[in-house]
Amino acid sequence: MKLLKTVSELQFVLAEKRQKHGTIGFVPTMGALHPGHLALVRQAVAENDVVVVSIFVNPTQFNDKNDLLHYPRTLEADCEQLKDTGATIVFAPSVEEIYPEPDTRRFDFGNLATVMEGKFRPGHFNGVAQVVSRLFDIVKPDRAYFGEKDFQQLAIIRAMVKQLDFPVEIISHPIVREANGLAMSSRNTRLSPELRKNAVEISRILFESQKKKNQLSIPALKQEVIDRVNAVAGLETEYFEIIDGDSLQIVNDWNDSPFIVGCIAVHAGEVRLIDNVFFR
Ligand code: PAF
Repeated sequence: MKLLKTVSELQFVLAEKRQKHGTIGFVPTMGALHPGHLALVRQAVAENDVVVVSIFVNPTQFNDKNDLLHYPRTLEADCEQLKDTGATIVFAPSVEEIYPEPDTRRFDFGNLATVMEGKFRPGHFNGVAQVVSRLFDIVKPDRAYFGEKDFQQLAIIRAMVKQLDFPVEIISHPIVREANGLAMSSRNTRLSPELRKNAVEISRILFESQKKKNQLSIPALKQEVIDRVNAVAGLETEYFEIIDGDSLQIVNDWNDSPFIVGCIAVHAGEVRLIDNVFFR
């Protein structure tokens, strides 16, 4: 496994690999890797000849400067974890490598970007689209892998790929959870032991809500989830939306869509966590 920090080094190595007609799998990350990321990397390794993992904390997607400042940066430990996954290249560029000039592009994702994360983190998805499109231009992957925890991000990336006509297949991977149900996240390391214990309630409440499909109306179920999460010490729901899994628009009746997803964002002390469940 090679650790490369510049675009020119990466492109030199990839040009050589591409000549051998292999497929390139790409796993973009912001580092602080956990088993959720490693599952993406392992799937990419199983499905491609060459796998690039990028580690880049993208400043343009943080609307909260404090969040950017405190985002965990653990390159050495990340490389250690990647060593036995079979990944070929770790690409860990500087901000200047990715943005030699400020990226002033403005994307329009319509209603996909106005709900949930888009509403509470203005500019976030524009930054995600900037960095992922830039990385796709650099890596030129055949397949790129994203986790379903960031459910809305996945929809935005699929829309971006369509808009910019990238010849890449977007592959999603189910949420990887701790044994107690907590969705794995780089942000979990910032939780105090007590909040980490209490945050487990988020997934427990979501799983219980899945069983209540068709027993409660969507508005009643939504309110119940919000009330139950808010009753846990240290947790405060920012939003819980029940949406159509393709359009991401809010549904009010269980019969309105064949693919319904419940997406939640919760403040656990200073840390903002997201999770989701499918109501099939
Ligand atoms: O999901 C993430 O970690 C980031 O949003 C991504 C896709 C790597 C872009 O910075």
